[in-house]
Amino acid sequence: MSGFPQRRLRRLRRTPALRAAVRETRLSCADFVYPVFVVEDAAAAGPVASMPGVARHTLETLPREIESLAALGLPAVLLFGVPAGKDAVASRAGAADAAVPRAIARVREVAPGLAVMTDICLCSYTDHGHCGVVRGRQVHNDDTLEILGRMAVAHARAGADLVAPSGMMDGMVAAIRAALDAAGFHEVGILSYAVKYASSFYGPFREAAESAPEFGDRRGYQMDPANAREALAEARLDLDEGADMIMVKPALPYLDVIRRVREAFPSAPLAAYQVSGEFSMIKAAAERGWLDERRAAMEALTAIKRAGADVLITYFAKAAAQWLQSEPA
Ligand code: PBG
Repeated sequence: MSGFPQRRLRRLRRTPALRAAVRETRLSCADFVYPVFVVEDAAAAGPVASMPGVARHTLETLPREIESLAALGLPAVLLFGVPAGKDAVASRAGAADAAVPRAIARVREVAPGLAVMTDICLCSYTDHGHCGVVRGRQVHNDDTLEILGRMAVAHARAGADLVAPSGMMDGMVAAIRAALDAAGFHEVGILSYAVKYASSFYGPFREAAESAPEFGDRRGYQMDPANAREALAEARLDLDEGADMIMVKPALPYLDVIRRVREAFPSAPLAAYQVSGEFSMIKAAAERGWLDERRAAMEALTAIKRAGADVLITYFAKAAAQWLQSEPA
């Protein structure tokens, strides 16, 4: 009695109601975090050509965007800053009057209930575009840590809930935790980009954040896409250093990694970042009529959640929130 013809799995796929009854993974608006870019220079604001529907905001245009996110019921934003002036040591990264600290204050006014996360990395702030200070042709790990700590404290002081270090420096979580605690910000958490690959899928983001490296690439600090066991070592170190939540990034090409991290660290809150290239590929194909945007986006997000992610960082957050409202699962 264990096989065909008695056993027919198609019975439960016959109607929408039956499919809904046995659905194992459901997306919810509460899963999403929306990345928001804030520029210091108004001339740099406006649409990001490689990411249709995504814009770079000034402090003036930001409140409307934030209001619409809150109205959709989205729970959180991840802020990225683009400074007007860059230099070798990322001076604007730790400034109290930089785009991100000021944006945090705006978000707090407009939507006090929204969780505010901020990206902590130097690549948008350095003139060479690397994620840390450069000595010779190398990104110097330990000299970078102190700047990351200052940046995190500036964001915490402005009211960030979580700071999210993305530069893949060794010891970055411990350094930021120590800096936050020394400044009295015990309640500010760390979402570590613990498992971040040296990926070609960040291409469109680098236009949005002006963060492409001037020379070389990021393979000296971001992970080799061929490695999965190493992901567990990265995740373990960051959790031991005090990360409150960890991330795998990119998401869809790394579902196996999401699954392995989820299984190795069952109690760790786990985020996955559906990065710019993952977003733009779907957008571009949909524009050509090659696939259905809504179905492709929701399928990808469902797959990321099914693999084990609790939190989905995605440029589709607004659209997905609307899709979920228009047709509840
Ligand atoms: C900064 C950072 C990057 C992304 C998030 N934080 C780019 C990079 O590492 O080059 C990528 C996000 C995306 O592609 O959407 N280090």
